[in-house]
Amino acid sequence: MALLIYGANGYTGSLIAARAVAKGVPVILAGRRAEAVEMQAARLKRTARAFGLDDAEATARALTGVTVVLNCAGPFSRTAGPLVDACLRVRAHYLDITGELDILEALAARDGDARAAGITVLPATGFDVVPSDCLAAEAKHRLPSATHLALAFQAGTRLSRGTATTSIENMNGGGAIRRDGKITRVPSGWRTRTIDLGDGPRKAVTIPWGDITTAYHSTGIPNIEVYIAVPAALRAGLRAARWLGPLLASAPLQRLLKSRVARGPAGPDAAERARGASHLWAEARDDAGRIVQLRLKTPEAYELTSWTALEIAERALRGELPVGFQTPSRACGREFVLGFPGVTLAGAG
Ligand SMILES: NC(=O)c1ccc[n+]([C@@H]2O[C@H](COP(=O)([O-])OP(=O)(O)OC[C@H]3O[C@@H](n4cnc5c(N)ncnc54)[C@H](OP(=O)(O)O)[C@@H]3O)[C@@H](O)[C@H]2O)c1
Repeated sequence: MALLIYGANGYTGSLIAARAVAKGVPVILAGRRAEAVEMQAARLKRTARAFGLDDAEATARALTGVTVVLNCAGPFSRTAGPLVDACLRVRAHYLDITGELDILEALAARDGDARAAGITVLPATGFDVVPSDCLAAEAKHRLPSATHLALAFQAGTRLSRGTATTSIENMNGGGAIRRDGKITRVPSGWRTRTIDLGDGPRKAVTIPWGDITTAYHSTGIPNIEVYIAVPAALRAGLRAARWLGPLLASAPLQRLLKSRVARGPAGPDAAERARGASHLWAEARDDAGRIVQLRLKTPEAYELTSWTALEIAERALRGELPVGFQTPSRACGREFVLGFPGVTLAGAG
């Protein structure tokens, strides 16, 4: 039995790897750069495996003896496909920490393959989307007749390099909501709402978040919008992205923004993670006008990610997760997130 963490040398992969070692989880540290993962493995006294994802045969061979893969190498547009293919070939469970809508849709489409191979495919095991997915499932539980779901969050932390890079790559993608069960493309920053996530009313704007896929699979609610509470300048930036599409996607601007990110810190340091907190909110409505609102407070987003992703990986190692494409709340229960220290749920309004 072994858990292979791919992208173990990245900011979030390192947090999860260190926690796995501290808990005595049998872990293999993997990534595309031999030097980086070998140094990390020497420090943590674990085995390293270095491999890229270009060669399907070699990737499958690199998973020999692996029970569970936890993919922490993002942007996931380049890593999720090859790794899930390799997992299907060797029958290892696939987990990741993506929050990207298109990746989640692509992985949901592998449900039949995953069932046939007898493996679990469970993406989004971090801050995106564990707390919001549990909140969505709780809202549905309290209002089974819900037809509309709105989710909102405020991560309350600095972005890691990987998250910032992933956001830069996706900023030209426009917005998305779920309408009548179908993913519907809408303009970037499509709708603004004032929402009280627990520390007073704030303006929040729609983003094409992973919950558009996962909350639908978890609850079956056909209409879903996801909001992020951000300062006015960022809301304006999201709306401006509607008109700047081709410019945002242009190679020179992408290179410039990514090089700036690469020069910055890897992510929040230990003190920032310890004092940070995230807030989430859910509202379920039905056709009779009934409304349920819930709020959730969690520890800082990267800290929570390292806890939830590892806990899910341990459950996968023990063979406790259902096979096929799964969401966190479907696989682990809607109360899963409440089992972590510092997570509190409250009704709102
Ligand atoms: N769901 C959540 O709540 C959550 C939380 C945290 C992070 N994330 C996501 O996780 C990803 C990683 O974030 P991070 O902050 O840990 O980033 P990071 O510090 O930049 O680390 C990225 C890792 O991925 C590897 N990688 C990147 N592209 C690759 C490719 N094409 N092939 C193989 N390996 C590749 C990197 O390898 P090298 O070192 O060789 O470049 C590195 O190991 C981001 O997409 C981020 O948005 C999600």
